[in-house]
Amino acid sequence: EDFSGSGVWRYADALPFDEGVTIQEGDTPLYEVPDVAAAADVADVRVKHEGMNPTGSFKDRGMTVGVRVADELGVGRLACASTGNTSAALAAYGARADTPVLVLLPAGKVAAGKVAQAALHGARICEVDGNFDACLDVVAELADRGEAYLLNSLNPFRLEGQKTIAFEILEQSRAATGEWPDRIVLPVGNAGNTAALYKAFRELVAAGAMAESEMPTLTGVQAEGAAPMVEAVEADRDHVERWDDVETRATAIRIGNPVNAPKALPGIYGTGGTAVAVSDDQITDAQRMLAGDGVGVEPASAASVAGLLELRERGEIDSGERVVCLTTGHLLKDPDAAAEAGGDTTPVPADADGVLDALAE
Ligand code: F0G
Repeated sequence: EDFSGSGVWRYADALPFDEGVTIQEGDTPLYEVPDVAAAADVADVRVKHEGMNPTGSFKDRGMTVGVRVADELGVGRLACASTGNTSAALAAYGARADTPVLVLLPAGKVAAGKVAQAALHGARICEVDGNFDACLDVVAELADRGEAYLLNSLNPFRLEGQKTIAFEILEQSRAATGEWPDRIVLPVGNAGNTAALYKAFRELVAAGAMAESEMPTLTGVQAEGAAPMVEAVEADRDHVERWDDVETRATAIRIGNPVNAPKALPGIYGTGGTAVAVSDDQITDAQRMLAGDGVGVEPASAASVAGLLELRERGEIDSGERVVCLTTGHLLKDPDAAAEAGGDTTPVPADADGVLDALAE
């Protein structure tokens, strides 16, 4: 069958429509990562690189469904709050659907590549003097007042599209290793993916395609400076308490009020998973390690690998486990962070001897 090249709409049977506003999203690679595997020392580690989507993050999977719904409703304006990737994806899919897009960004806290994408795809960009959570409060009120259609992950159609991450991980893992993974480790901001993956598993169980015991354990990773979910899981609570002050180099997950926590916490508890916080230095080390395997990711994405290594260190992940780490966004999203994590450049004269002299130093 023809799904217009979209890896998401290939799973239309599990989605609320047969097709959407598509830019050929999904169908992202599941990579082997030898350096990470050596460091983690578990039975198998693979990286599901969602940075390989059209706009460079997993958000495209949600937008192809969400913008389709908005199109059908005939709304006049699409809107989101964003730490950057949601705005980049919404700007592109809104442009594709010829619908105006408004994005609210935390001023000075969004990586350069993401702002550039939103700008070039033609979104109206408003910078808010406040963090992401404040932006979301405002945009939710605009939606309540009928001024815009909300396309943050509070919108359940977004999560429908993001379920396909789970379907692909299961299919690709089985094709590569003959088995489904025991565990999926993923960065957590608003906890939309955590909720979406759990919904996908439950639907597979309900359809008789998966035994409850086969659900991979969902393991959420947050940055130390923005870890309200980890706090809740460590206290075994069924709700998250909002952090007003958040800070991390992984600006994509600089979030203090994970709005999907009511759907995500049952996913962590229901699969026997956990949540863990990592430092910015651990995130940067993991970003470098992935880069050494040829896989370029933004800091928030590297949090998944940092979380895996931290939990191995603590002995909370068994050496026999088969693990998939989700890397949510591309290296080029945050060129400043990448340049800082990478090595320095060397000024040389424009001749071969000059270059060799510099190399010898
Ligand atoms: N990784 C990246 C690269 C992200 O951009 C986000 C969220 C997450 C992880 C967290 O995912 O919310 O499903 O737990 N970014 C949103 C945005 C908030 O505005 O782009 P989650």
